[in-house]
Amino acid sequence: MMPRLLITGLSGQVGSALARAAAGRFEVTGSFFRQPTDHPGGFHWDLRKDIEPVLDRYRPDLIVHTAALSAPAHCEQHPDDAHRIHTLATRDMARWAQRRQAYLIFLSTDLVFDGRKGDYTETDPVNPLSVYGHTKRSGETACLELCSTAAVIRPALIYGRSRRGDRGADEQIRHALSDGRTLTLFVDEFRTPVWLDDLVHVLLHFLGRRITGLFHVGGPRRLSRWEFGWLVARAAAMPTDHIRPASLETFIGAPPRSPDVSLDCTRLTTEIPFALQSPEEVLFQHQPR
Ligand SMILES: NC(=O)c1ccc[n+]([C@@H]2O[C@H](COP(=O)([O-])OP(=O)(O)OC[C@H]3O[C@@H](n4cnc5c(N)ncnc54)[C@H](OP(=O)(O)O)[C@@H]3O)[C@@H](O)[C@H]2O)c1
Repeated sequence: MMPRLLITGLSGQVGSALARAAAGRFEVTGSFFRQPTDHPGGFHWDLRKDIEPVLDRYRPDLIVHTAALSAPAHCEQHPDDAHRIHTLATRDMARWAQRRQAYLIFLSTDLVFDGRKGDYTETDPVNPLSVYGHTKRSGETACLELCSTAAVIRPALIYGRSRRGDRGADEQIRHALSDGRTLTLFVDEFRTPVWLDDLVHVLLHFLGRRITGLFHVGGPRRLSRWEFGWLVARAAAMPTDHIRPASLETFIGAPPRSPDVSLDCTRLTTEIPFALQSPEEVLFQHQPR
């Protein structure tokens, strides 16, 4: 019998890609919220409500908690929802997984850091600047303190082909450019973008071996938002003149932006037998379209 894998956020960018890749190795079920999926194991679940009764019903051997309010600006407007989904739901999943000795992976974020240092390792102190980052950090703590069978993964900015073609960081840039919009991208805001397929590969590897602890998962290249946008346009043979460079100093809005949340992923490399690819390799060789 195949192990039962429950994915929260089956309708999301990571959840849907993981579900596709995990089919055949796991018996996959998973939840959506506002956007039903055609996945046969999909069911509606509002993670702001009870967690444990749903887990009792599905009794998964493994859980990957990808569901989130993944737009930081939305979290500033809806802090209670962010707290429930990122912190309380994660805490309840961690308690349940500990009791049942199920394996749990929680997807956190690079935005637990304030971005003043860059090249962060897992032992660097966190200092989130946003509701999104704070509530994710509280979820991390609950997971690691309450569940000995849990892994917390902090992905960097994710790009690649998403279920509906509009979630990947690269897809959003291509859409804007093909609509003729001008994109203003920061030259002094750095991330280590990770390819969706690589992240899924890491998740499958962790699920297979039940690796526990805290891990950074970013690509091998530290790029500014502007450099990333420029690469995406070049790889898609789109004109780059609609990509305007700007400095973070000109940013007005909430939450504040973290200048450099690039991730050091040395710890990950001790666990995985494959290398993560750079955006240059991915965008020019496997143009996701
Ligand atoms: N995308 C990135 O660049 C990035 C970077 C770092 C970390 N992360 C983290 O990685 C994880 C996966 O990201 P993603 O890009 O796949 O996110 P996503 O595409 O925005 O998907 C979010 C998922 O959460 C679900 N959801 C939202 N509100 C819910 C609620 N109240 N109850 C239950 N489910 C709810 C959504 O369901 P519906 O669509 O059905 O409403 C969707 O399936 C997230 O935890 C995110 O914080 C993402």
